[in-house]
Amino acid sequence: MKILVTGGAGFIGSNFVFHMLDKYPNYEIVCLDNLTYAGNLSTLDSVMKNPNFQFVKGDIADSTFINELFDNHKFDIVVNFAAESHVDRSIEDPQIFLVANIIGTGVLMDACRNHGNIRYHQVSTDEVYGDLPLDRPDLLFTENTPIHTSSPYSSSKAGADLLVQSYHRTFGLPITISRCSNNYGPYHFPEKLIPLMISKALAGEKLPVYGDGLNIRDWLYVEDHCKAIDVIIHNGRIGEVYNVGGHNEMSNIDIVKIILSKLGKSEDLISYVTDRKGHDMRYAIDPTKITTELGWAPTTMFADGIEKTIDWYLNNRTWWENIISGEYQNYYNEMYGKK
Ligand code: NAD
Ligand code: DAU
Repeated sequence: MKILVTGGAGFIGSNFVFHMLDKYPNYEIVCLDNLTYAGNLSTLDSVMKNPNFQFVKGDIADSTFINELFDNHKFDIVVNFAAESHVDRSIEDPQIFLVANIIGTGVLMDACRNHGNIRYHQVSTDEVYGDLPLDRPDLLFTENTPIHTSSPYSSSKAGADLLVQSYHRTFGLPITISRCSNNYGPYHFPEKLIPLMISKALAGEKLPVYGDGLNIRDWLYVEDHCKAIDVIIHNGRIGEVYNVGGHNEMSNIDIVKIILSKLGKSEDLISYVTDRKGHDMRYAIDPTKITTELGWAPTTMFADGIEKTIDWYLNNRTWWENIISGEYQNYYNEMYGKK
């Protein structure tokens, strides 16, 4: 089995590469990533010498390059993690999200169509469903919840999802889609809430909480997301969407307070700042379909996952300190120049 993993130098993609190489010693993994600011080659250091692993630098939106790659490898499955992923950046500069997230998805699927109808998995997000009100805890996102996006990021992911479904209906491309809630864990880029707050707290800097901090996210340990994708690409029904989440809703302010408490820091560091534009109030996933159909269930509960995550950031300071200092850009250039 040969799998193309796009965006594998990012947070979830790299964790997926580790999971797959570890669980399936006979599988070959080709990781394609164009190493944007969010892709970090050093994250993949531990697998670079694995004979079943190959890293390729390239852009999923570059059709000439993608077609050559597919000519040179016979992929059995394509798993597309590659995307611009940060909501705040999409508010500052929407255009790059459209190219990477929508055009890139189309280019990959055309390559799948033109190279023997390769199975294609789209890693999507619960943000395509928009948000839920805080005063209706009974409401959850199911696979039938209408698409109703808020940010340029979520709109670009929803556009990609619709395109993926159209390729199934129109061309018979064997696709699946997963829509997961917020992930946390090792190698999470320190612009996102949990790693940002850990790094700020350790530096004794103010922790910027948007608005009143009462927005709710549904947190899942990254390894559990990787396991869900693993079962979907092996056993998921073609043409289907699977929601992925572990019923772990928490407000932002509660997350921030947990991090401060675990690091022994004062809540005086909390600073309420101007809210994100169009800020979604609450996300909450109903994972009934994936649990009943495919037997998936999360294995890491939040209390353990957040401990593991904070420990990881304490024990891997070089990884995120280099990113924050800008050193990682030099690292890429040096490392990639040698490969
Ligand atoms: P990330 O930003 O950490 O990683 C994205 C990776 O994609 C980076 O390595 C980047 O270099 C690469 N990339 C971006 N544009 C590319 C392009 N045009 N060609 C090739 N590579 C490109 O993101 P993440 O948090 O790991 O998210 C991965 C996927 O999972 C995304 O599609 C995202 O929408 C989805 N998702 C994320 C979460 C979450 O909580 N982080 C939850 C649900 C779904
Ligand atoms: O739900 C899945 C999505 O989760 C993924 O599709 C996205 O790729 C991923 O980035 C994430 O989106 P969010 O917008 O939920 O994540 P973020 O870490 O940016 O923010 C989480 C919450 O914390 C959100 O309510 C905004 C808030 N926040 C965020 C930052 C960066 C703050 O209050 N302060 C901050 O500095």
